[in-house]
Amino acid sequence: MKLSLSSTEPLSVAVDVLVLGIPEGASAKDGILGELTTRLGPAVARILKREDFTGKKDQSVEIPCNDDVKPARLILFGLGKEPLGAIEVRLFAARAGRFAIGAKAASLGVAIPGDVVGSERAAAEGVVLGSYRFTKYLTGDRLPKVQLDKVTLLVAGALTKAAKDAAALGQQVGEAVCIARDLINEPPNELYPEKLADAAVAMCKSRGLQVTVLDRPALEKKGMKLIIAVGRGSRRDPRMIHMIYKPKGANAKTKKIVFVGKGLTFDTGGICIKPAPGMEEMKGDMGGAANVVALMAAVAAVKPDVEVHGIIGSAENMPDGDAYRPGDIFGSYDGKTVEIINTDAEGRLVLADVLAYGRELKPDLMIDNATLTGACVVALGPTVSGYFTNRDEAAERFRKAAKTAGEAMWQLPMVEDLRDGLKSDWADIKHVADRWGGAISAALFLREFVGDTAWIHVDIAGPSMANKAYGLYSKGGTGQGVLTFLRVIDDLATA
Ligand code: BES
Ligand code: MN
Ligand code: ZN
Repeated sequence: MKLSLSSTEPLSVAVDVLVLGIPEGASAKDGILGELTTRLGPAVARILKREDFTGKKDQSVEIPCNDDVKPARLILFGLGKEPLGAIEVRLFAARAGRFAIGAKAASLGVAIPGDVVGSERAAAEGVVLGSYRFTKYLTGDRLPKVQLDKVTLLVAGALTKAAKDAAALGQQVGEAVCIARDLINEPPNELYPEKLADAAVAMCKSRGLQVTVLDRPALEKKGMKLIIAVGRGSRRDPRMIHMIYKPKGANAKTKKIVFVGKGLTFDTGGICIKPAPGMEEMKGDMGGAANVVALMAAVAAVKPDVEVHGIIGSAENMPDGDAYRPGDIFGSYDGKTVEIINTDAEGRLVLADVLAYGRELKPDLMIDNATLTGACVVALGPTVSGYFTNRDEAAERFRKAAKTAGEAMWQLPMVEDLRDGLKSDWADIKHVADRWGGAISAALFLREFVGDTAWIHVDIAGPSMANKAYGLYSKGGTGQGVLTFLRVIDDLATA
């Protein structure tokens, strides 16, 4: 997609679809609507009245174009009453992008509404995210015939270089988030741990990031016994992937942050096999890992003044003659022994080894993200991620980051009472406690492996995949979390 910023007057851009945002209650006589009436005639007011269009959020209306204007189709979107911020601009642009795809437009013009700081970047991010679709495995009639390959973002004032750079960066960030979506949407026969590692390596190589991959012999040598245990039942061996971004001119004061992702390329549940209905969704059990790859790609574009590590533990959880079982006891990279209770609670085992490895880097903050528990989806619904932390001040900063990024995240408590449920008679710890508070006991288990590192665990089980398009997200993989993590990095850079 070619995306550009232009200060051309909207009705003079030759595009298949032009989208304008209208604030709620805007007068039909002046402003944008007045201008439209002048150019397109009194029909404008009649259509708005007939369609009951008042600019409320989520309202939209099409105004027929004549030969005096350049766009082929003109669509008005309601912006609602609230003052616009970058989040609203991003959502508006995503709506426009989604509309353009539905309308089979090859070119789209979006007038950036309002006078919002950072709106060029936000609009570019939004249009890329909203127009995303995954068509790799469609053939013939199922393949879209039209590609949206030209997007023009329209600004009211003069074009500055800073604005153009911001739009270009927004496109890069949006496209980075789409890397996560692509990886999540890949079918599990095509994307197994080795391939996930290949994708991460390719991303790093093309952007000048360092990367190392540990294959099974290397994991064994390092003593990553829990990752090995989870991957034992699969013919596809597990991997650990370590990506590194170092800022230019890094010194002793440069902050360091580690991101960890759960990369189960498929989760059958293993010996404790899952019921068949919906099991296909478990191709997305590498959503956390996909987010980390996407985040590192975004970081390579944003170039923050922070050292960023992205570490993925990847395996496939399968039932097999050699699969791990309930009752098994394994050591771990940390050294603690773990009694296996339910082989479907595999994610926390993989994360435990990666977190113990990540803490050796002595980061200022370590954040893991994982499609970890159904319990988190029960607690918060399918569109909100839950986060946990061992540091109160980190929670507040993370809350603000999610808020400014426009991603739905809610803190859940580390309830100490539940720690008892992880006591094992036969090993140092067991990995599953009672059913109630399942997202919390999973977090308590992970905490055992982070030492005294400041740490946040984000359970993205709900939002990582969407069963229908909404907000910034398309159906399937969403990449929810990446924009928040980028804010956290920004925040750390200026701290
Ligand atoms: N990958 C699942 C969690 C999940 C559920 C992700 C729904 C996305 C949507 C995880 O590995 C799992 O199976 N967790 C179990 C844990 C239980 C056995 C303690 C769960 O949540 O039921
Ligand atoms: Mn599972
Ligand atoms: Zn899982």
